[in-house]
Amino acid sequence: MNLRIKITILTTAIAVSVVFFTLLPIRGVIMNAFREELEKKAVSIAGNLTDRIANNILLTDHFQTTKAFNEVLVKEKDVEYIFVTNEEGRIFAHTFDNGTPPDVLTWNPVGNREINIQLLDTEKGYIRDVGVRVFNLTKSELHLGIREDGLKHTLARMRIVTIPIIFFVTFLGIVASFVFSRLITKPLNKFVEFTKVLGRGEFGRKVEVRSEDEVGYLARNFNRLSMELKMTKEKIEEAYTYTHLLQAEKLSSIGQISAGLAHELKNPMTTLKMLFQAFKEQPDMTKEDAEVISNEIEKIDRILTDFIGFVKQKGLRYSKIDLNALIDRVLSLAAFDIENTDIAVHKDMLEGLPPVKADRALLEQVFLNLIINAIHAMPGGGEIRISGKTDESFTEVMIWDKGAGIPPDIRSKVFDPFFTTKADGTGLGLSIAYNIIKSHGGKLFFNSNEGKGTVFTVRLPKEEENG
Ligand SMILES: Nc1ncnc2c1ncn2[C@@H]1O[C@H](COP(=O)(O)OP(=O)(O)OP(=O)(O)O)[C@@H](O)[C@H]1O
Ligand SMILES: [Mg+2]
Repeated sequence: MNLRIKITILTTAIAVSVVFFTLLPIRGVIMNAFREELEKKAVSIAGNLTDRIANNILLTDHFQTTKAFNEVLVKEKDVEYIFVTNEEGRIFAHTFDNGTPPDVLTWNPVGNREINIQLLDTEKGYIRDVGVRVFNLTKSELHLGIREDGLKHTLARMRIVTIPIIFFVTFLGIVASFVFSRLITKPLNKFVEFTKVLGRGEFGRKVEVRSEDEVGYLARNFNRLSMELKMTKEKIEEAYTYTHLLQAEKLSSIGQISAGLAHELKNPMTTLKMLFQAFKEQPDMTKEDAEVISNEIEKIDRILTDFIGFVKQKGLRYSKIDLNALIDRVLSLAAFDIENTDIAVHKDMLEGLPPVKADRALLEQVFLNLIINAIHAMPGGGEIRISGKTDESFTEVMIWDKGAGIPPDIRSKVFDPFFTTKADGTGLGLSIAYNIIKSHGGKLFFNSNEGKGTVFTVRLPKEEENG
């Protein structure tokens, strides 16, 4: 059962019980008031009648007495019967159709009292018998039975009015609570959806609930959590890329470069091996043989020199560099590659960047490679945005593209030397760029969203820390 239905049931139950428990006492009050009125009426009629018939009893005028009784019966619809006893306590006159009931005198004896009232449970329903004394110190009593049917009718009428009210209020309660419960469940449903979004790892998204109550407070906390998750995720990714690279650099570059080296050295070594094999059998060496040996050794020497040159970084030549101007120059170098594409380049916040201390030629190489990679990422055209950012310790330049992104399974490899997905790529661009930025005390990292694009960040330390 969902929350909305629960709220609706709860509010409806409250509405119904309120109506019920209000109507119940009201009904009691009305009934009491009605009974009191009835009793008062009966006492008053009985009193009046007594005055009217006292003389008739003394004169034993049955006719006048019965007449007076019948007049009352005609006028007062509630009155069921009237009877009166004479001074000896015997029935003197009555209005019973079929003679007096056998034990009528035991119903409600007045005794020594002025008046006595009793509720009788008869076949005709509840009847209130009011007995009054006619003459003091005699047994003469007048009794008047008044029906409570009127009360029954009133109650029935009340029911006719109250039952539809109860139904109407219940219905109104259901409708109102169904509508109002939406106020609660709607934001809650948003939260439920939002937790699914977070579950999918889409951190940084926000739940749109703008209210100043507890729900709004919850929403603000949720949004803060989402932002924190996003930042943490980015930090972890960054740390992962970085540590993974340190390791990849060690293993992969050593492995791959050694493999390349072994391959290069294999040919001259084979030649030398064959020659020495021949010398074992026939030790005289011709001039040609000596030349071949000398050439092969030279070849080995050149390969090793080149390799050492590649491995050993030349010293950095630092100068103060205006990044905005440097990017402009790199863009002019890349102009030819951009010209025939549908790519627009936008620069953003680069003017205000403080100068950095770096090797100009190497930094140009880094940015050129990143921009060329971005161009390659968007063969169908798109947009490259180059933006700058600075804080107390770093200056950053970010190259954004709207290409296909770097698929997750190759993210850990793009900085490896010789890793490429391009037919004519060498796969050295990013690994060299990474080493250059690292030797400047900075960091090169990326964020990539498959299908949306990639951003490479070049983070360089601020000048004073760079020394
Ligand atoms: N902006 C980018 N968007 C998508 N993939 C990229 C991006 N930049 C680099 N890559 C991926 O990383 C790989 C390695 O890039 P890297 O610059 O090291 O080599 P390359 O561009 O393939 O060759 P080259 O040595 O000529 O630069 C690329 O082949 C490509 O798959
Ligand atoms: Mg490249």
